[in-house]
Amino acid sequence: MTTAVCPGSFDPITSGHLFVVERCVDRFDDVVVLVTVNPSKRGMFDIDDRVALIEASTAHLPNVRVDRWEGLLVDYLRGQPAPTLVKGLRSVVDFQYESPMAQMNRELADVETLFLLGDPRHAHVSSSLVKEIARLGGDISPYVPAPVASAIAAAAR
Ligand code: PNS
Repeated sequence: MTTAVCPGSFDPITSGHLFVVERCVDRFDDVVVLVTVNPSKRGMFDIDDRVALIEASTAHLPNVRVDRWEGLLVDYLRGQPAPTLVKGLRSVVDFQYESPMAQMNRELADVETLFLLGDPRHAHVSSSLVKEIARLGGDISPYVPAPVASAIAAAAR
């Protein structure tokens, strides 16, 4: 049994995130999209909504489940069978942000991080840009899964 754990804030999940999750499906028995909870950070979507939007966006993927966690990632991983962290990389900037965390997670709990190259079509897509475009009334539908676009459109009505 192998488990991919794809952690993140997912406020909201984007097409770039979904691309990485889809790449995991055939390579791991079980894929967990893990929404990490930071109580001091208020996002656009609350945690329940983030989880629901990921569930709706990954409903076509049979071995994907969504979970949430408040605390150290390595403590969540202790409860999972043969876990590997999986992160997407859009650019060298992502690598610079991710590599200290990967190193730290290895030191803390001997957990490996697998980096998957994102799709170049999503290289410029981020949750923060999506939120800014949505707040200012722009069209975010090319950058997010359909359930996220619908939720944002409904909130704007
Ligand atoms: O989507 P993000 O916000 O870039 O994801 C960053 C995240 C959530 C993966 C990172 O902040 C994290 O791992 N948070 C959980 C707390 C933790 O374990 N921190 C130590 C990391 S070495």
